Amino acid sequence: MMPVALGTQGQPGFDRPFELMSDCHRRIEQFLAVIRRALEAYSSRELDEECSNALRTAQRYFREGAPRHTEDEEVSLFPRLRDLDRDDMRELLDAAERLEREHDEAERIHHSVDARIDRWLRDRQLTPAEVEAMVLDLDALDRLYAEHIAFEDDVLFPAAARALDREHVLRIGEEMAARRGLDASRTGPRGPIESRRFSR
Ligand SMILES: [Fe+2]
Ligand SMILES: [Fe+2]
Repeated sequence: MMPVALGTQGQPGFDRPFELMSDCHRRIEQFLAVIRRALEAYSSRELDEECSNALRTAQRYFREGAPRHTEDEEVSLFPRLRDLDRDDMRELLDAAERLEREHDEAERIHHSVDARIDRWLRDRQLTPAEVEAMVLDLDALDRLYAEHIAFEDDVLFPAAARALDREHVLRIGEEMAARRGLDASRTGPRGPIESRRFSR
């Protein structure tokens, strides 16, 4: 089983919130891949301790870290884009509504995956039907996130970075830090300890 290394690479500080949001996307992709590889390797044999731990780490990320990322967008970013009330942002705001619906859909599927991982960890082995259902869930999440994340990384975040003034951008970063129990002013650029904590 592959190790799950968090915070081994430096991260931007909270004064660069859009880069941090994109980093969250990389973690979403990474932890989905962890679950998929576990399914491929352990669908027909009992879980060992290493794989169990990797699954628990992925589970914890999707229970705790990923919802914070959704809040970063829905609470800290989208309302600020709406408040701009600019014609050229209207298309982007329509997209933000679609993104919120996709967040709900992703949350529903993550819930299903989470419950199956619980059973997997408890019983050490999944039934073939459970394996199949989990593969379908992971496929659905991959499809959903592929477009969703590409749109946010390539279109929404760059447009938001251009449209919002520096003060708003810094406020977003402060809210992201507070959401994780951190003080934005204490987080130096690429501090490894704060990065690890941010990853949770
Ligand atoms: Fe999103
Ligand atoms: Fe996102």
